[in-house]
Amino acid sequence: MTTARLRLDPAFTVGPVNRRLFGSFVEHLGRCVYEGIYEPGHPEADAEGFRRDVLELVRELGVTTVRYPGGNFVSGYRWEDGVGPREERPRRLDLAWRATETNEVGLHEFARWCELADVELMYAVNLGTRGVAEALDVLEYANIPGGTALSDARRANGAEQPFDIRMWCLGNEMDGPWQLGHSTPEEYGRLASQTAKAMRQIDKDLELVVCGSSGSGMPTFGTWERTVLEHSYDDVDYISCHAYYQERDGDLASFLASGVDMDRFIESVVATADHVRALVRSDKRIQISFDEWNVWYMGAEEPGTITGDEWPEVQHRLENVYSVKDAVVVGGLLISLLRHADRVTAASLAQLVNAIAPIMTAPGGPAWRQTTFFPFATTSRLARGVSLDVRVDVPTTTTAVYGDVPLVDVAATHDPETGDVAVFALNRATEGPLEVEVELATGIVSRVAEALTLHDDDLEATNTREHPDRVGLEENPTARLDGGVLHVTLPPVSWTAVSLKP
Ligand code: AHR
Repeated sequence: MTTARLRLDPAFTVGPVNRRLFGSFVEHLGRCVYEGIYEPGHPEADAEGFRRDVLELVRELGVTTVRYPGGNFVSGYRWEDGVGPREERPRRLDLAWRATETNEVGLHEFARWCELADVELMYAVNLGTRGVAEALDVLEYANIPGGTALSDARRANGAEQPFDIRMWCLGNEMDGPWQLGHSTPEEYGRLASQTAKAMRQIDKDLELVVCGSSGSGMPTFGTWERTVLEHSYDDVDYISCHAYYQERDGDLASFLASGVDMDRFIESVVATADHVRALVRSDKRIQISFDEWNVWYMGAEEPGTITGDEWPEVQHRLENVYSVKDAVVVGGLLISLLRHADRVTAASLAQLVNAIAPIMTAPGGPAWRQTTFFPFATTSRLARGVSLDVRVDVPTTTTAVYGDVPLVDVAATHDPETGDVAVFALNRATEGPLEVEVELATGIVSRVAEALTLHDDDLEATNTREHPDRVGLEENPTARLDGGVLHVTLPPVSWTAVSLKP
C-alpha cells in the first residue's frame, strides 16, 4: 500500500485558526431565507417564524459568522425596505435572481436569527445601485446606540440595543458583468475607498472587506486585486476571494484536486496584496475573507443568465443535491483554508440553507443534512488553536487540469490550551486505500479520541428527504497510535478527521 508520511510539531505553525474561518452565507436567493431559515406556520417554527429544526442543524454545523443579505442580491437591495412594520414593507423586484422580494425578513429579523443561532452577523452594503450615503445610513441605523434619526428609528422598530455589526463587505463581486453596477477596478477601488473612509468616521474599528475577483478565472483577475487595493489599501482590512468548483466532463481526478486551485488562488491574492503593500509602504497586511466557496453545479443558473416573464416570490433555485465526492472535495477545500490560516482569517461556505447548501428543507416538512454538512461540521468542531505547518511526503497523481498533485492532502491543528491535535486528510486516489503515517513530536499526544471517515463505494450517493441518513461519517477503525506515530488507512476518494488527545 502507498504510504504518505509527515511529521507534526507544535513548534512549527502556520498561524492561529480564526473561528471566522467557519462562516457561512445567507442570501435572499431561492429558498435560503423564505422556506429555509424562516417559514411561519411550519410545525417547527417559533413565534417569530424561524424554523427550530434548521436552527438546530445550523448550531450542529458549527457555523460562526453569517454573511448577509447577498451576494448578487445586495447590489440592488434597499436596506430600508426590510425594516419597520411588516405590513408597510414594499414588494420589490430582485433583478439578480429574477424574483419578487417581499421584505418580510430584513435586518432586525436576521439579527434576531443570528442571536438564536449564536453566530456573528457579517453585513454587505450595496455598492451596485447605491453608494457612500446609504452605507453610512445602514451603519448608523445598525450600530449607533441612539440619539440620531436613524438609530432612534431602529429603537422605535423594536431594537433598543444596537446590532453592533463588526464586519462589513463593501459590495459584492463588482468585477462581474452580471452584477448591478458592474465597475472597472478604478471605479470600484475609488468607491470602496471613499465608502470605507466614511464608515470609519463613524467607527474606526470596523472590519472592512473590499471585493476581490468573483473567481480566479475572471479575465481581470490579478489586475482587479492590484488596482482595487492601490486605491483602498489603507482603508480596508480584508480582500474577498470567491470560488466554486464542480466536476466537469467526468474528470474526477481534477475535481478531487480542487484544493490545489484554491491554494493557488489564495497564494496569488496574498502575493498581489503584499506587492501593493510594498508600493504603498504600509505596515499592515491585508487578510483574505474567502467569503464564498463551495461545490456548485451552475448549469442554467449561472449568475446573469436567468431570464423569463415571471417574478416569483419563492422559487427552487440552485438546489444542488450533493454527492459523496462533492463532500470529499468540500473536505479538501477546508484543508486548503486551514493551510492558509495565517492570511485567510474569515471564510463563508456559500450558502447555508437550500441554495447550494449543507442544509435542505421541505416546505412544511423536514430538514436534513446534505453530504457536505459532515466535513464542515467536523472541521469546525475539531480544528482549534493553531494550524500546523504540514509537509507531506507522498507520491503524486496526474490531473488534466492541475498537472501533478499530491495523492494525499493533509492539514493539522494543535490547541495549546487543551493539547488536542486534529489531523484532516483527503485521499485523492481513485483506486485502492492509502496509509498515512504521522510522526508526532515526542509526548504531545497519548491516544486517538476519534477517527471519522467520509467514504462510500457509491460516489454518487446523496442524502434526500426520503433517505436523509444515506451518507454520513463512519468511525475509522484503522486509526491507532504506535510509539508516537499515528497510523490511519484512507479508503479511495475519502476525507478523514482524526482527533488526538494528550
Ligand atoms: O452564491 C451564489 C452567488 O454566487 C452569489 O450571489 C454571488 O455573489 C456569486 O456569484
